[in-house]
Amino acid sequence: MEIVLSGIRPTGNLHLGNYYGAVTSFVKLQEAYKCFFFIADWHSLTTHPTPENIQNSARTILSEYLACGLDPEKSTIYVQSDVPEVIELYLYLNMNAYLGELERVTSFKEKARKQPDNVNAGLLTYPTLMAADILIHRSHKVPVGKDQEQNMEMARKFARRFNMMYNTDLFPEPQNFSLAGQGGIKIPGLDGSGKMGKSEGNCIYLCDEPSVIRKKVMKAVTDAGPQAMNSEKPEVIQNLFTLLDVVSTKDTYDYFNEKWNDCTLRYGDLKKQLAEDIIKATDPIRERIKEYAGNTDLLQSIAKAGAEKARESAAATLKEVRKTIGFKVY
Ligand code: TYM
Repeated sequence: MEIVLSGIRPTGNLHLGNYYGAVTSFVKLQEAYKCFFFIADWHSLTTHPTPENIQNSARTILSEYLACGLDPEKSTIYVQSDVPEVIELYLYLNMNAYLGELERVTSFKEKARKQPDNVNAGLLTYPTLMAADILIHRSHKVPVGKDQEQNMEMARKFARRFNMMYNTDLFPEPQNFSLAGQGGIKIPGLDGSGKMGKSEGNCIYLCDEPSVIRKKVMKAVTDAGPQAMNSEKPEVIQNLFTLLDVVSTKDTYDYFNEKWNDCTLRYGDLKKQLAEDIIKATDPIRERIKEYAGNTDLLQSIAKAGAEKARESAAATLKEVRKTIGFKVY
């Protein structure tokens, strides 16, 4: 059976980008595949969070995963740092990962520019750790948003390289996989930037109260309005339509699209509708987040059971890897 795996860094709450770019796919895929979904807390160390920060954030994402519909009976849900086998594979992969190719990764270059005082080796080898996450379960399909394309290319490269070096077919080449369309989707920010993201500070979170969502949407950047019939939408306006396409009905989308095309669109009306549709789409999740977040015992037992299942699968791969590399297996 094909293996599906994906993860999210616990550096805050889940936002609409995480949800529509990744988690909605997780929820559907768990019905048909053997799935592993984890919380990438090692990855979050690149920005040096405090111990309290790490602990709280992992708990937060776990309750949000569950609130979105991830089911521990169907999927293996675990915290990355509970599975030490991943680090051993990370070490092996790092031995065949080269400075030049790691330095060329766009997200490394961006991070290095943003945090010039903290260009650490973990940041450089982020793609190797991500590859280890994926390859440790010999995953075939990885549901991620469009922004992860380059990391996925690296994971495939490391899998191929290992297989070639040792003349084995141990690792399948993991494929990006999105139910939202070829190559995944990108949820835009409301500040006119291309992408909704935690570090961009432009997110609508699943746990945001309706009043907060309304305020954020009403503040979305727009322009002077449509100037010519049937004209192409500038990026800031296209962003609003992309969100509308995701959360609203087709009729609503078509209604506002027509208004754009005949130059009668009032952005205030569109934003009001968009805010209400986001609230409607996230309402049940918001309620469930509160329920799960308060149930520490349940969260702990789910994380513990998930870690056991994940370690079993990881240990089986690692045994093969060690044998392949030439280490004695007792
Ligand atoms: P992270 O935590 O930045 O994001 C988690 C998931 O959410 C998707 N996503 C988006 N999708 C569409 N539009 C957006 N605006 C948007 N913002 C975020 C991301 O594509 C991702 O699928 N490196 C990963 C975490 C990771 C991982 C892995 C993923 C670590 N190891 C192994 C898959 C497999 C990351 O930082 O995602």
